[in-house]
Amino acid sequence: MIIEPRMRGFICLTAHPDGAAQSIKNQIEYIKSKGSINGAKKVLVIGASTGFGLASRVTSAFGSGAATIGVFFEKPPVEGKTASPGWYNSAAFEKEAHAAGLYAKSINGDAFSKEIKQQTIDLIKADLGQVDLVIYSLASPVRQHPETGVLHRSVLKPIGGVYTNKTVDFHTGKVSEISIQPAQDGDIENTVAVMGGEDWAMWIDALKAANLLAPGAQTVAYSYIGPSLTEAVYRKGTIGRAKDHLEATAFEITDSLKDIDGKAYVSVNKALVTQASSAIPVIPLYISLLYKIMKEEGLHEGTIEQIQRLYAERLYTGGDVPVDEKGRIRIDDWEMKEDVQQKVATLWEEATTENLAEIGDLKGYRDDFYNLFGFGFDGVDYAADANELVTVESIK
Ligand code: NAI
Ligand code: NA
Repeated sequence: MIIEPRMRGFICLTAHPDGAAQSIKNQIEYIKSKGSINGAKKVLVIGASTGFGLASRVTSAFGSGAATIGVFFEKPPVEGKTASPGWYNSAAFEKEAHAAGLYAKSINGDAFSKEIKQQTIDLIKADLGQVDLVIYSLASPVRQHPETGVLHRSVLKPIGGVYTNKTVDFHTGKVSEISIQPAQDGDIENTVAVMGGEDWAMWIDALKAANLLAPGAQTVAYSYIGPSLTEAVYRKGTIGRAKDHLEATAFEITDSLKDIDGKAYVSVNKALVTQASSAIPVIPLYISLLYKIMKEEGLHEGTIEQIQRLYAERLYTGGDVPVDEKGRIRIDDWEMKEDVQQKVATLWEEATTENLAEIGDLKGYRDDFYNLFGFGFDGVDYAADANELVTVESIK
């Protein structure tokens, strides 16, 4: 069928398999163009189908020739209805990996559950023996706790008071003021339960107990800090508490891996357009101004450029991994440059509906958003019939 973007609010209900395939090809080309990385050879990626996790899978496979197992939660296609974008990404990734002679298998299901952890453990045992890198890149609005059965929902709210600031509807370009009510009873705890470090630690404990972590194994989870402009709703809001928890968990995991000389890191990444970030008020306005400045200064990166730099210039240099005073890897260093942030802050004051298309990169934002769903890629014939019933080779 001919597949077109169909929007509802901030989400796109359709995805394009050929566009997803093109996106994977582009990411692989980029990684190959940067040369090989002396990295891990057996890699588990949790949250492997979109965003930073997908970029990590591509970088491991095509930068270091790694065997990869990817875990994700995506919708397969059904007759007349497209799959979710991460399904098509994973189908395309496996196809490319297999064509290149690389091991790649995927598991589709709830990574927070005991069942999916067990399935992953069984697969590693059967096929890889052990892994030497575990990337933890989940972004989810909900988590059913595997012990209590409680369904926790994460929220994006300020803590302590109402937050009022500018925001943009990136579809219409309308700039307006938005007020977000502060967190109420249970909001902080629930957000920490979903996006904090508990599940990461559960994964690593389970893998270690089954003797599936190789000597010297590393694990990396992703975090965000951002500017003072968004602090009240992001880093000092409910999600920030979850990121504090995630960052603290890295030290606990490192302690638990002492006997195998393993190590856990949090990498602080750049703000980018993903399904998760486009739903956060205020952030799209910040990103459209940030993109404008970073592109002008030749500093712009997408997820694949970020993760390539994480591997090549932080994790696998052959020397010590450089970290900040809190033990975190920083690949948000270019976003956080003082002159970049000063320019964004100035533009922020000026931004209106009338001038945003000019002073901000609204087009870049939209293009990235459509790209997430496989739309807007050069080299894809969108007027042609697409086969939406694409399968992920390893998933029966
Ligand atoms: P994303 O939405 O693109 O990717 C989320 C991944 O998690 C997908 O593979 C999805 O299938 C998987 N997933 C979600 N729920 C699942 C479940 N219950 N079971 C199994 N898999 C599940 O998100 P993105 O943006 O790549 O985020 C990944 C991490 O990076 C998050 O921790 C996020 O906070 C962090 N980050 C994101 C930034 C951004 O600007 N987008 C900036 C810095 C850090
Ligand atoms: Na991800």
